[in-house]
Amino acid sequence: MTKYTQVFLGTAFSSKTPKEVQILRDYLFCVNADGMIEQTVAPEDAEYQTLLDAYQGKENFHRLAEGQYILPGFVDLHVHAPQWAQSGTALDIPLHDWLNTYTFPVESKFSDLNFAQDVYQDVVSTLLANGTTTVLYFATVHKEASILLAKICAEKGQRGLVGKVVMDHQDNNPEYYRDQDTETALADTEEFIIAIKELAKSTKQGVYPVVTPRFIPSCTDEALQGLGELATKYDTYVQSHCSESDWEHGYVQERYNKNDAFALNDFGLLRDKSVMAHCNFINDADADLFAETGTAVCHCPISNAYFANSVIPIAHLHAKNVEIGLGSDISGGFSPSLYDNARQAVISSRMLEDGVNTNLPAEERGVPNSRITINEAFYLATAGGGESLSLPIGRLEASYAWDIQIIDTKLASAKLPIYQANEDLLDVFQKIMYLARPENIREVWVQGEKVHSRMS
Ligand code: GUN
Ligand code: FE
Repeated sequence: MTKYTQVFLGTAFSSKTPKEVQILRDYLFCVNADGMIEQTVAPEDAEYQTLLDAYQGKENFHRLAEGQYILPGFVDLHVHAPQWAQSGTALDIPLHDWLNTYTFPVESKFSDLNFAQDVYQDVVSTLLANGTTTVLYFATVHKEASILLAKICAEKGQRGLVGKVVMDHQDNNPEYYRDQDTETALADTEEFIIAIKELAKSTKQGVYPVVTPRFIPSCTDEALQGLGELATKYDTYVQSHCSESDWEHGYVQERYNKNDAFALNDFGLLRDKSVMAHCNFINDADADLFAETGTAVCHCPISNAYFANSVIPIAHLHAKNVEIGLGSDISGGFSPSLYDNARQAVISSRMLEDGVNTNLPAEERGVPNSRITINEAFYLATAGGGESLSLPIGRLEASYAWDIQIIDTKLASAKLPIYQANEDLLDVFQKIMYLARPENIREVWVQGEKVHSRMS
């Protein structure tokens, strides 16, 4: 009878559709030895009492305390792990200057494995403590340090998808920070892919190699072509920055006379396993190409407020059936929390819809139908991320991984404003999304293993 590895009893929230949150009140969640949800059982289901009788009081039975709730672990589709070392700095200058003056010097330090070890340990732990269970990472150009990041994810139990960054263009990258030449960039990428596939075999949650041309300006045509071929040969994920800013978008137009999306597609880099960060300047033809190829957009709302010179029309892209997830873009975005990014996604979308130039008449100010709700932002941070990666994560349903965060709303040090005994659970959910802090995240589990717990 006691066939499950873990059984949890509690109230949980999971996306039913992009707009609708499902409340799973007092459910039993039965997790198997592989860390997958085998079944979810509602109190009215016939088996409920039998299961309760079988598991109650056992060591592997977890009854959530009053005021605690389960949310799926968050999926962050865009993190520059090395940039954790400079988070929060220099955000007042344009992207191009920020990269050259601040970011490339920091990233170049990751040739030193001791430095890499310190920063990577911290960023993986910090993201877990913020409820983020799966992360799509950019590392640096350095093969060894990139492998180290994947090893740290493996050790700490995070589902890490990691890319060794490719920057082989001799004119567009500084001499102190680039691949030596195109051939080395491709050879290092191939060795990196093989090493991560080998490492993955010893993990329960999985780690994955990601083909990672930084963005078009940093790569030669030969590298982009070679990377497309490697992605097909090894069936890997692909990530890059796409149509992010006026400057970058303009550069690509000049080089190819097309937008990033079509240029990347010509090199075989738009695949079902591709995730493109930012995409502020994609037009309808680009969006259709994304939908056709299964390429996902990673929305980085905090970073976009600083570097993009625009607000992405997220509701419009969703309506066009483009897969979309959420990204912190550490450190273009200063916050490691997808709660902060979900909040900003809602705020930015409202500013796009309502417009901000009060010198214009109200009806001329904004872009109609742009706003998203906090429910939709939650979807982007969970199920939308899972769909973007084609992995069974981000929902609390049978056949999904047990990747969760347990939120305590009653902590003395970080109490959420819930005063009524029977408060509407959708209101509780929204309070969590808007007000939860890392202190409220008491436990984080990935693939059925506890990977973070907070004592104080
Ligand atoms: N474009 C190329 N590299 C980067 C980066 O590190 N951050 C952001 N936001 N955009 C980029
Ligand atoms: Fe980025």
